[in-house]
Amino acid sequence: MKSKKRVLVKFSGEALANENGFGIDTATLKYIANEIKTLVDNDVGVSVVVGGGNFIRGVSAAGDGLIRRTTGDYMGMLSTIINAVAIQEAVENIGLESRVLSAIEVPEICEPFITRRAQRHLEKGRVVVFAAGTGNPFFTTDTAATLRAVEMEADMIIKATKVDGIYDRDPNKYSDAVKLPTLSYDDALKDDIKVMDDTSIALAKDNNIPIFVYNMMGNNELKKIVVDEDYSTCSVVKRK
Ligand code: GTP
Repeated sequence: MKSKKRVLVKFSGEALANENGFGIDTATLKYIANEIKTLVDNDVGVSVVVGGGNFIRGVSAAGDGLIRRTTGDYMGMLSTIINAVAIQEAVENIGLESRVLSAIEVPEICEPFITRRAQRHLEKGRVVVFAAGTGNPFFTTDTAATLRAVEMEADMIIKATKVDGIYDRDPNKYSDAVKLPTLSYDDALKDDIKVMDDTSIALAKDNNIPIFVYNMMGNNELKKIVVDEDYSTCSVVKRK
């Protein structure tokens, strides 16, 4: 049984990339680690799911038909393992304990995903980083994030993005896009709202876990949302 607040933070692989959109930018990694530390220091149990788009994205890898989609997705899952161990190194570098648990077994690199083991690590105050998505092709790392959040009995899912919430239209394309502070799960499933894919939103809805979307480059933003419960700068998808 969990005894303290638990959150699952989802970072996109692209968020870790350098300015060329590829690989890992260690300054960003360090920044993310410090943001995570503010939660651990406030007695919050932190799990992390990270994407792999800074190396390979399954859909794109399979784009011209040479590589099959299933293989492309497995390649993408492998790239999330690279990012997961990088996050582990970064949080350990600032004094936190961390374990990487992977949905695809690579025992030389990290532990296999076992729900009860992950729970135990959280109870011990370790930052648990889930790697290799759900371990299955055709599922996104957003879906992995929701699945792991449900399994870890997280109180909230936090989606780190480059914008400060959910807009009615793409704010990068439309200057008059309006930010939506609160949405229902059904609102979030509408075609023009691209917050997470439908599978992940449906799973969050079924399990009544709120999804908070925030700008990961803001200062102390994670603490503000999770510890201070100040939602003024993010958007929330929840049961209305
Ligand atoms: P507790 O027993 O709850 O304290 O957890 P623990 O993770 O410290 O225990 P364990 O002795 O299982 O693990 C010790 C170290 O080995 C940790 O850094 C684990 O991440 C690592 N470890 C455990 N299992 C595996 C594995 O299958 N593969 C790899 N690469 N590392 C593992």
